[in-house]
Amino acid sequence: MSVLLVEDDMSIAIVITAALEAEGFDVVHCQTIEERDRLIAQQTFSAMVTDVMLPDGDGIETIERVRSLRPDMPVVILSAQNTLDTAVRATDTGAFEYFPKPFDIDELARTVRQAAGNGQGNVHDGDEPLGDGLPLVGRSPAMQSVFRMITRVLRNDLTVLILGESGTGKELVAEAIHQLGNRRTGPFVAVNTAAIPAELIESELFGHEKGAFTGAVARHEGKFEQAAGGTLFLDEIGDMPMQAQTRLLRALQSGTVRRVGGREEIKLDARIIAATNKDLEPEIAAGRFREDLYYRLNVVPISMPPLRDRPEDIEVLARHFLQHAANEGLPKRQLTSEAAELLRKQPWRGNVRELKNFIYRLALLAREDAIDVESINPLLAAESQGSQAGAGDGSAVDIDTAVSQWLAAERPADGSIYASAMAAFERPLFAEILKETGGNQLRAAHALGINRNTLRKRLSELELDPEAFARRP
Ligand SMILES: Nc1ncnc2c1ncn2[C@@H]1O[C@H](COP(=O)(O)OP(=O)(O)OP(=O)(O)O)[C@@H](O)[C@H]1O
Ligand SMILES: [Mg+2]
Repeated sequence: MSVLLVEDDMSIAIVITAALEAEGFDVVHCQTIEERDRLIAQQTFSAMVTDVMLPDGDGIETIERVRSLRPDMPVVILSAQNTLDTAVRATDTGAFEYFPKPFDIDELARTVRQAAGNGQGNVHDGDEPLGDGLPLVGRSPAMQSVFRMITRVLRNDLTVLILGESGTGKELVAEAIHQLGNRRTGPFVAVNTAAIPAELIESELFGHEKGAFTGAVARHEGKFEQAAGGTLFLDEIGDMPMQAQTRLLRALQSGTVRRVGGREEIKLDARIIAATNKDLEPEIAAGRFREDLYYRLNVVPISMPPLRDRPEDIEVLARHFLQHAANEGLPKRQLTSEAAELLRKQPWRGNVRELKNFIYRLALLAREDAIDVESINPLLAAESQGSQAGAGDGSAVDIDTAVSQWLAAERPADGSIYASAMAAFERPLFAEILKETGGNQLRAAHALGINRNTLRKRLSELELDPEAFARRP
């Protein structure tokens, strides 16, 4: 059963869509009266949920047009103007229910289910967009609590700390908070705090004056200044060098920054969102992360659930990515329900990112329009081979043989075998990955799943020059 949601406030639309999808509805969302009238004319809905103040008019005043086309469709009205007038006008239209904002989302979902049940129970063809246009896909309860947390920080500037495994959507959440929040007209500046060499971090974050140090040929605005009026996204905060943590803490405590070599105190005017895929508590216990900085950042924590804990989202996400792939020019593919079931059962250690890459590969490689179990299996096999290092089954290169040959040929002195073997293994591995990334160390570190500083250190120890892999025009 499908519900038409007419709501121009995206933050509210996200939450309602999630709640209604959890009730088993397909939600078609639009933001204007014009779109509403077009959709109503085109298809049948079990119910409509509508805001009152819309960009192109009043949702109540124009409801007659809906009534004349669909006299039996129940209408649920939401309004932020909690005046008696609005309530009365809403009731006058014969609306099924009137909800003043803010309202209890679960109550709204229950009401819509009731309303839809009382209606004609119109069955509708199943191929409409699933809350289309909303950036974060997912109907699981775990994602609904994420949505709810997002809506709580949109109308304030509280610092947000997004935690979760790699690929769970942390950056996407940071972007959504920016785009839907008070600061959407300002810039969104993302900094990977682990990727900046320790000696440059101060100047990167806070800027420097001309002549502040050798090489500072011009004044440079730091990320904090660049983000003025907008959002500063501090990514991979758990890998930030200690010294930089201290500087960051000082800036957050004082609410001001000073450019390196400068005297002026510049007031901070950015919403701070931090993210990490590290569990910070053990990092704090081990003395690698400052506890006081943790408390500064952890004002509103948002935990991104791993994909394996919300298998009910996998199918929606897969269909979403198939649609995206098609929008980007790849062939339009359908997923059979058996195929979706198979996807649900996978562990997706790389979370949504892994699923997304997998779906794009499927869209590219599948020969039939319908993607079924047979077309998924070979790709899944390749995937698990790729992710289980050394799980040789004869078809891949035999590492065991390589190791014994290497030992026979090189035989390092006792006491140095491990270090030499690791170097022998890392050198071609790093070279291969750097080749793939065109010498980009950040992406290489990301692909390898190691800290960028670790990679840098190892490259220098192995005397591998990443520049040598840079793509030349
Ligand atoms: N709920 C979602 N709906 C749609 N796309 C999603 C969702 N979650 C993640 N993605 C997509 O998956 C990919 C990975 O997400 P993102 O980069 O936000 O993850 P991350 O948590 O920041 O990962 P990392 O810790 O590795 O940086 C992106 O392409 C993102 O658009
Ligand atoms: Mg990220």
